[in-house]
Amino acid sequence: MDEKPEIYLDNGATTKVDVRVVEAMIPYFLKYYGNASSLHHKGAEARNALNDARQVIADRINADNDEIVFTSGGSESDNLAIRGTSHALKDKGNHIITTTIEHPAVLETYKQLGKEGFEVTVLNVDNDGMLDLDKLRSAIKDNTVLVSIMHANNEVGVVQDLEKIGEICAEKNIVFHSDCVQSLCKVPINVKQMNLSLAAFASHKLHGPKGVGALFVKRGTKLYRQIYGGSHELGLRAGTENIPGIVGFATAVSLWTDDDVERITSLRDKLMTGLLEINDTELNGSRESRLCNNVNISFNFIEGEGILLHLDKNGICASTGSACSSQSLDPSHVLLAINIPHSKAHGAIRFTLSRETKEEEVDYVLKVMPNIVNELRGLSPIKNNEDLAEAEKMKFDDHH
Ligand SMILES: Cc1ncc(COP(=O)(O)O)c(C=O)c1O
Repeated sequence: MDEKPEIYLDNGATTKVDVRVVEAMIPYFLKYYGNASSLHHKGAEARNALNDARQVIADRINADNDEIVFTSGGSESDNLAIRGTSHALKDKGNHIITTTIEHPAVLETYKQLGKEGFEVTVLNVDNDGMLDLDKLRSAIKDNTVLVSIMHANNEVGVVQDLEKIGEICAEKNIVFHSDCVQSLCKVPINVKQMNLSLAAFASHKLHGPKGVGALFVKRGTKLYRQIYGGSHELGLRAGTENIPGIVGFATAVSLWTDDDVERITSLRDKLMTGLLEINDTELNGSRESRLCNNVNISFNFIEGEGILLHLDKNGICASTGSACSSQSLDPSHVLLAINIPHSKAHGAIRFTLSRETKEEEVDYVLKVMPNIVNELRGLSPIKNNEDLAEAEKMKFDDHH
């Protein structure tokens, strides 16, 4: 390997587009560039591609072709699902439920609905990041119309049991939405078995292009459109369809195999085990119910930003939290929600692997990481738990 390799382990933020995906997209820019709504043959070419792509996504999640709505990505799909059902079901009730560890695409949408008069319940999860099903059961009231619980968490990789959650929602006849942006192709999704009414997906997390996603909408689900205009996408999402993007998304989905997931899982385990051999490190999020490509570890007594800069100097891209919140120095809301203390949340690093991750890249990270940690700990005034307790006591005394 070169002096400074390029090792991309921030695939939870976004992925490199697979070259086969790019090749599949090119004809839809240059040859089959028609508008899928046009009546001539170029329109038909685009329409056929759109229909085939819809079928690929539908087959992957055991849905039907007319239950897939293409969107601009995960955020739009979450907004359409949550705002669309809440407003459509307002006459039935105005109570909506979610969890503390959702992506901002869900949490901020709930916050806005709170301002619009909806009653919002945000459920805590346990220290592993798992939702307590009894807690969900007892939060549901007569006026509850929507439960939105993510499948796999983008920061700590925790995977929720959607089948059990779906059972509860079905029992109570409540619409169940799940943000499946991180899980599609990495964790099996069967919308029927999981009793899902709505599920959000994004192409760019699985080696597809950015700016394209989908929402599964179970037939018969009452949903108000959020973008007004033409009658595209079952009348639920106006706008000329992004055919090259949609073809790219479907190609990316069709390329994923169980073997990919197995290989990524074994690399994840190697990275996780190796990093946890460094002193004073802790895994964040459940070890058992975890996304195949997520390693999130707190390196105690040092700051994540410092680690990130040193990793970057060595050619390694990782992250301290979700890309959306990494501009802020506040600890991640997900780590705080799973009761990681501020001091440890600040030292958390997320490595997210992909289908392109190689074993030698994992070995390289395992080689450089102990040196980075030693160097930063050498500079830190806090070197152990006693120092940390003393520093926290001083901070407390200063405030009182
Ligand atoms: C869990 C989750 N939901 C939603 C989103 C938003 O998706 P997009 O960037 O396609 O809008 C992301 C992306 O970071 C995510 O990880």
